Amino acid sequence: MILKAANIKKYYYNSESVIKAVDGININVEKGDFIAVMGQSGSGKSTLLKCLATFIPIDSGELIIDGNQINYKNRKSLLETRRHDIGYIFQEYNLLEHLTVEENMILPLIISGNVGKAELRDKVEKLAGELGIEDLLNKYPGEISGGQKQRCACARALINSPQIVFADEPTGALDSKSSEKFLELIYDLNNNLGTTIIMATHNIIAASYTKRTVFLKDGKIIEQISRQNGHSYKDSIVQTVAFN
Ligand SMILES: Nc1ncnc2c1ncn2[C@@H]1O[C@H](COP(=O)(O)OP(=O)(O)OP(=O)(O)O)[C@@H](O)[C@H]1O
Ligand SMILES: [Mg+2]
Repeated sequence: MILKAANIKKYYYNSESVIKAVDGININVEKGDFIAVMGQSGSGKSTLLKCLATFIPIDSGELIIDGNQINYKNRKSLLETRRHDIGYIFQEYNLLEHLTVEENMILPLIISGNVGKAELRDKVEKLAGELGIEDLLNKYPGEISGGQKQRCACARALINSPQIVFADEPTGALDSKSSEKFLELIYDLNNNLGTTIIMATHNIIAASYTKRTVFLKDGKIIEQISRQNGHSYKDSIVQTVAFN
């Protein structure tokens, strides 16, 4: 198992009320899994992904990634986990506008340090080729399309060869053609390279690319569907979305 979350909770408090953004979630993720997280706006998808990626500390429960129990006080081990195990694709791409595509891509490696120039070049060339962005490396984010930015954001998430890639609404800002291309890309990543992917989405088509879909409501898992032979996975997702 690459990731295990046991009864994790994340509550937000304001003067009048408490928002139970993640409210006792259990999830076991095997290596090579591809999971969609669905649910209405405010159901807790982004908070859950950020908790699982260690970006937001959980209030309670247990989180184990690649055999390591996450302890937010142990900064060194936390950074190691983030460096080796976690890649994150944000909906808004989060590319730095004054850096080129290539510079954005290698940012995580520069931050980790210890990577020689030749190795850096190799990694960039290989990944850029795989993602079809080799002609964009010297361009700035302002000069490329939304779909191309998302590929670049994906390249940055993958440059460290992480065990798990999280993607929060990765197709939310893309037109249908770019969206389909991007989904095929991450499908191949999962299928050919065995990268574990956890993706939050509102989109039924996006969810239908995955192996299983987890439905959230008020910070809780209310339903789970797996792709099974002989059943239409997409139809099951449509039904579950319609009835919740
Ligand atoms: N930093 C925060 N401070 C206070 N409340 C927050 C914070 N982040 C999220 N929330 C609240 O937690 C709940 C879950 O939010 P979250 O962003 O996880 O939902 P979501 O399912 O990703 O929604 P969307 O589909 O709109 O992206 C919401 O009620 C939200 O307002
Ligand atoms: Mg969200």
